[in-house]
Amino acid sequence: MSLVLDPAAQDLLFREARTANTFTDEPVTDEQVQAIYDLVKFGPTAFNQSPLRVTLVRSPEARERLVRHMAEGNQPKTAAAPLVAILSADNEFHEELPQLLPHAPQIKDMFFSERPVRENAAALNAALQAAYFIIGVRAAGLAAGPMTGLDFAGVQKEFLDDDHAPLMVVNIGKPGEDAWFPRSPRLAFDQVITTV
Ligand SMILES: Cc1cc2nc3c(=O)[nH]c(=O)nc-3n(C[C@H](O)[C@H](O)[C@H](O)COP(=O)(O)O)c2cc1C
Repeated sequence: MSLVLDPAAQDLLFREARTANTFTDEPVTDEQVQAIYDLVKFGPTAFNQSPLRVTLVRSPEARERLVRHMAEGNQPKTAAAPLVAILSADNEFHEELPQLLPHAPQIKDMFFSERPVRENAAALNAALQAAYFIIGVRAAGLAAGPMTGLDFAGVQKEFLDDDHAPLMVVNIGKPGEDAWFPRSPRLAFDQVITTV
């Protein structure tokens, strides 16, 4: 009711989309990741900043290093998924603001000269972009398995640097056998939406 998006697309992105815990062996190609990013980059952020960074963990050696930093229950999923991505927030995202906001290059220094302010903004806006990324994965006909059960300091040290804060790890691929638990309930409209 009232939606203009095709019902099949609504199912693909939301109603029938699930968080996958197992995957088939079918690879996820760089072309698919490119197509996903080419959608995701249009998701809105404050001042059009773009703090999300995505590290594709492709080599078996890097995968092994990442698995070591995952919570025990998450390790088998990260070991087996066709593609695994580390999503992080770039706390120095303001350096790109003149490129992303060419009509207002003064915003970079006016609002983001202080690191704590940037960290807050990066955490919020990269999390938004992570959500767009998960929906983008679904739009490619794939399933995502986002996870925050991991050693954040360990992942940062192993794969990133002091300017990049890990947000989550996302397993990506075609869902395998017994890929999910029964769907858990969601809050009803009245529990969430108030009108003043
Ligand atoms: C930010 C985030 C962190 C999550 N962390 C974990 C995790 O560490 N381990 C896990 O098994 N599932 C994790 N999940 C999966 C959620 O439990 C799952 O997405 C949620 O229950 C909805 O499942 P559904 O999409 O199948 O309805 C995480 C999901 C999100 C979005």
